[in-house]
Amino acid sequence: AVLPAQPNTDAAAPAPASTAAREITILFGSQTGNCSGLARKLSKKLAEQGGQVTVSSMSDFKPNHLKKIENLLILVSTHGEGDPPDNAISFYEFLHSKRAPRLEGLSYSVLALGDTSYEFFCQTGKDFDKRLEELGGKRLVPRVDCDVDIDEPAGEWITEVLRAFREEGSQSAPSSPSIGATAANETDHEFSRTNPFHAEILENINLNGRGSDRETRHIELSLEGSGLEYEPGDSLGIYPENHPQLVDELIGFMEWNPEEAISINKKGEKMALRDALLRHYEITVLTKPLLALAAGLSSDERLQELVQAGHEQELKAYLEGRDLLDLVQDYQFKGTPAQSFAGILRKLPARLYSIASSSKGYPDEVHVTIRKVQYESYGRDRFGVCSVQLAERLRSGATLPVYIQHNPNFKLPENPETPIIMIGPGTGVAPFRAFLSDREESGAGGKTWLFYGDQHFTTDFLYQTDWQRWLKDGVLTRMDVAFSRDTDKKIYVQHRMLEKKRELYVWLQEGACVYVCGDEKKMAHDVHATLAAILEQEGGLSPEDAAEYLQRMQQEKRYQRDVY
Ligand code: 2AM
Repeated sequence: AVLPAQPNTDAAAPAPASTAAREITILFGSQTGNCSGLARKLSKKLAEQGGQVTVSSMSDFKPNHLKKIENLLILVSTHGEGDPPDNAISFYEFLHSKRAPRLEGLSYSVLALGDTSYEFFCQTGKDFDKRLEELGGKRLVPRVDCDVDIDEPAGEWITEVLRAFREEGSQSAPSSPSIGATAANETDHEFSRTNPFHAEILENINLNGRGSDRETRHIELSLEGSGLEYEPGDSLGIYPENHPQLVDELIGFMEWNPEEAISINKKGEKMALRDALLRHYEITVLTKPLLALAAGLSSDERLQELVQAGHEQELKAYLEGRDLLDLVQDYQFKGTPAQSFAGILRKLPARLYSIASSSKGYPDEVHVTIRKVQYESYGRDRFGVCSVQLAERLRSGATLPVYIQHNPNFKLPENPETPIIMIGPGTGVAPFRAFLSDREESGAGGKTWLFYGDQHFTTDFLYQTDWQRWLKDGVLTRMDVAFSRDTDKKIYVQHRMLEKKRELYVWLQEGACVYVCGDEKKMAHDVHATLAAILEQEGGLSPEDAAEYLQRMQQEKRYQRDVY
């Protein structure tokens, strides 16, 4: 279950039947599928207490239906610099435009998902909440903003929503929720984010050749006996462990006792301090709320000043590239008990990786492609928590706690004849290995085109033999590669796209679906601009029409992105 932390006694409590079942619309918008999972849970519980519930992705929702709705629940995450996720953009823009209707009769509530390590924490949820109020909507229960560890706050919001509808006397005979197509492919599993499966590592190999700047691990894990299922486009959640060196330096510097038993949650569960710092707490990221709490534990006036209003820029600069060890070394914390410190830390979140295998091709296995992250900051080596653990400390035979994160926003077209264009430089190519393996196994006939790029042909051509085999077999129709550091001038995937703009435009006219996976800020942004340029140059569209064309493709799920 996604929400075992949530007491469901409320939802199960018998209540008097009322005449009319309340109609409730749940809209979700998320890049990873977190919101759609929660939306589905919520709809089930509302239906159990008599609600007539409709769940859909924001991109599937017709905005002119808004006027007819009385009860609206929004679950939405925030992306990048406070932006809405792809499948929320059109609804977000509609609601913030002049076309948005007055909503005097509307009851609503918002659950916002976000991450306090980003400046614009939960911004999209806050925007929806504010805008619906401006339009005359009545807040049913207050908005809840969730940090990375969503279970407790999301569970509380759901409990409040359920209670509010019960108090309004909305019960009648239970009815089944009508679930939008995008949420329908998720089923309950015994193993989940809150109850991960310990998967054995079958294979852990470096895909890069000697001399490469990169180290990219191809990891094969066994799902045997887990009952876990996935589709191409889904992600694997992995719970990593912090680097023992960092943990030991922290404990040593603070002169804590590594064996001290500390409480790790409200329920009072205990763990030895060293284990808790390895497995339970996040220690590599500093956030604004964390520093505010830390200032309360420290006698250091400089820190208290840093978290005061008026020092926002200074604080932001301090957080960047520093970790918990920096914090305790830079400010006065000597003598702070481990338990007090632990009490202010965030839970170590799982890392999500696009799955690189199809279960049709590799039954009972799941593959991921993970690039080692290591860099220097403020005179010390910094290690990507999960990637370095996999690159340096886990060999075949070890186990990793994992779960499947379904992603309804990155799915192969239902029609196997539909052509697909896949753009995935670097580790962004991972899901396309899953796509092609799936198309191979199912004998799908649609044309396929892959754009791949990385630094050097000889050392960085991830899964080269797979692509070559699929090209030979016709599973992969075309492939264009861009090795950025083999030539004087940098060549990126979007340069290759532009070179092939004529054919690309023809594929788009034939109804091809476009998939982009990988770096969001630079690559996905530039690829988007290139798609628009191709529509302008080959289709004769104005810049406005090209933008609208891409937005329509997104709405029709013909343009999907899995970017990070
Ligand atoms: P670079 O490192 O030589 O700049 C995978 O990481 C590949 O993506 C690399 O070849 C990298 O090139 C390239 N890359 C970097 N910035 C990019 C951008 N804005 N658009 C597309 N590819 C980019």
